[in-house]
Amino acid sequence: MMEITLGIHQQKSVESDVWISYCERYGIRYHLVDCFERNIIKNLKNLGVRGLLWHWPYYDTKTVRFAKSIIKAAEFMGVKVFPSIPTCWHHNDKISQKYLLESLDAPVIPTYVFYDCQEALAWIRKASFPKVLKLREGSGGQHVWLLKTRDEARIMCQKAFGTGFYALEGGCRKMIKKTRPAKVVVDMCRTVYQTLKTFYISDNGIDGFPMRADYLYLQDYLQGNEGDTRISVIGNRAFGFRRLGSSENFRAGGKKVVYDPSLIDRECIKIALAISRKGKFQSMAYDFLFDQEQGRPLICEISCVFGREAAQRCPGYWDSDLNWIDGPLCCEEAIISDFLETLGMP
Ligand SMILES: Nc1ncnc2c1ncn2[C@@H]1O[C@H](COP(=O)(O)OP(=O)(O)O)[C@@H](O)[C@H]1O
Ligand SMILES: [Mg+2]
Repeated sequence: MMEITLGIHQQKSVESDVWISYCERYGIRYHLVDCFERNIIKNLKNLGVRGLLWHWPYYDTKTVRFAKSIIKAAEFMGVKVFPSIPTCWHHNDKISQKYLLESLDAPVIPTYVFYDCQEALAWIRKASFPKVLKLREGSGGQHVWLLKTRDEARIMCQKAFGTGFYALEGGCRKMIKKTRPAKVVVDMCRTVYQTLKTFYISDNGIDGFPMRADYLYLQDYLQGNEGDTRISVIGNRAFGFRRLGSSENFRAGGKKVVYDPSLIDRECIKIALAISRKGKFQSMAYDFLFDQEQGRPLICEISCVFGREAAQRCPGYWDSDLNWIDGPLCCEEAIISDFLETLGMP
């Protein structure tokens, strides 16, 4: 038995199960803890937990909204946590990501955030178009719009500082563009249900967000991208794949995923590994789009929680020197092995 005690947040998930079987395999002492339990901090102390592993399901609003408070307190009393605060404080928050990536001198798509309507309108008068409007939360392109003209931008700006946005809007617009009527109806019903669920029934599902935005988030539009490149970094391993979108919908969204490593631009791998090192991120997925004019990749968004299946379907990964290591790798095993190393366990 090794001396260190881990806490693993108890929940039904493949990720936690991998951590549990890893501990059992290597004789690492662990307790299953409920991080949302009233006395979690006291429990961690009483159990002598030195490291806490907490898998965040991407769509679990409760975790995304409240976990940071618990993690911050745990770290404050010396417990190492996955995900750590540097790794997770900006999760699902494009505004935080903008500031963080700028502070790390990361190559990021030029992004403009305004907190004052008049100031935003004055900027819009001089800006070039198209631009991309986003809400700070959301995924799958639900809260992303292409603003082709200055007039469109002006209307959306008034809306952001006025009535605001509903969760339904992005989704419905996207669906109406689909051609098969039956699918449109089914998808519409699903979105209505999801939205009602978010606002009135439970805290889970797609993100709830205030109707009034009170901010305006705009980004330069990078044209000519027929998809994006996702690099997922765990420690100093980089997994890469391309997600191809349809040409009529600028939100690539990534219906078709291509795992061919020869299609991955090495610059993306270099940037992702460097920013993860600099930002002390335990794990992070980077979505890159290409600035065709400057011929270089720029970060569109980052996420500390990403689909393990996709990363594990990669035929191998690159190490910190960009050497290719053949063979798929289990993400959670990589995470827990890095985590134990930071706790002084080989
Ligand atoms: N600045 C941009 N220029 C061109 N396309 C963009 C831009 N921002 C986003 N997109 C497209 O829209 C998709 C969704 O945007 P993204 O910021 O990733 O939001 P989400 O969090 O919903 O995934 C991206 O995958 C990309 O295809
Ligand atoms: Mg995205």
